[in-house]
Amino acid sequence: MTTTQGHYREEFAATGDWLYFDHASTGYYPARTVAAIQEYAARAANPINYDTAGNERLRQETREQVARLTGALPENVAFTSSLSEAMNLLANGLDWVAGDNVVVPAGEFPSVTYTFVNIRKRYGIELRRVPPNAAGRTDIDALIAAIDDNTRAVALSHVEWADGYRNDIAALGAYCRPRGIEVFVDATQAMGAQPIDIDAWQATAVAAHAYKWLLAGHGLGVVAFGAGAANRIYPAYAGFHSFETVLDDSSYSYDDTSGTFEFKPGALRYQTGGFDKLSMTALHVSLSLILDADPTRTSVHGSELVQRLAAGATARGYQVVSDIEPAHGSQFLALTTGSVAGDQHVVDILAGQRIKVALRPKGIRVAPYFYHDHNDVERFLQALPTGGQ
Ligand SMILES: Cc1ncc(COP(=O)(O)O)c(C=O)c1O
Repeated sequence: MTTTQGHYREEFAATGDWLYFDHASTGYYPARTVAAIQEYAARAANPINYDTAGNERLRQETREQVARLTGALPENVAFTSSLSEAMNLLANGLDWVAGDNVVVPAGEFPSVTYTFVNIRKRYGIELRRVPPNAAGRTDIDALIAAIDDNTRAVALSHVEWADGYRNDIAALGAYCRPRGIEVFVDATQAMGAQPIDIDAWQATAVAAHAYKWLLAGHGLGVVAFGAGAANRIYPAYAGFHSFETVLDDSSYSYDDTSGTFEFKPGALRYQTGGFDKLSMTALHVSLSLILDADPTRTSVHGSELVQRLAAGATARGYQVVSDIEPAHGSQFLALTTGSVAGDQHVVDILAGQRIKVALRPKGIRVAPYFYHDHNDVERFLQALPTGGQ
């Protein structure tokens, strides 16, 4: 991987001499994506260029790319505007009955938690927030212990936002699927950077906002469904694109008993109206790069960078907050000086050296991506003040 780094680096030259180790906050467009967006904008300036078939091809090809990233079938991939919207699509698609419950780790990203905070009063359901274990981690066994006969779903992140902790979704899926409990996965911090196999995980759906590791900007989310899952999640919204037949009924005598209102197969039923071609263009082109780099390889590279970052930071007197062992480590980590003020000071010092990282509740979040190499890690470590001073 390291030998091919230069090839990918050219795509990310826009940051100049900044070392951007903040991909867990926001990704940015590779050069090929910028070029494609400019081309799209130039074409969109003339309505004569509008190409319905070309747009549909763009969406279909992007579905196929997301399918390759997640292990889902292309027809089981849908697009949303964010992770929040994807989680709401899933949560509102269940026939909740008063007394049902949903299990969510207490430290989950708000987009996951708030989805269920919002619906719990409406449906009379219970939100079971499971505290972390003594080591401060999400514990799949504790989630399973919180499940009972009234549990309809578990919702959690694959890779957690604050420290990069990677949950064992397959272990959860193996418990939940045979019991008919849905597993909704937020993969915003994973998709593009980690291998995902939705069917091996036995997850209901895996969703992500595309502006981080998918390098496609804000405003486009993806949700991939496991085999058969789209038949269990009722479309809470419907529109022009949701059904098999497009009505053209000038008498407005729509008859929903005639069989006309058949949902499209798979995840196509969740696409209500026209889609955002500009964002889809960005995602399509960024995914060509991500798939070429290949998350099964880049995740290994990412974990090597994390190991070096952790060893170097430890030698400089920092505490590694993240679990970086192979079972739960990911492509980013959190470090701390031991105090928020100390961590903020270090973030500022690094910014002065044109190194961008983020301050988050567990400390200094350091998030390189596949185009970074060991020289970048060395530059970071040399800039990192000893003992956080
Ligand atoms: C785990 C996780 N999920 C989701 C999001 C973004 O959520 P949304 O798409 O609702 O803005 C983030 C952003 O930091 C995140 O870290």
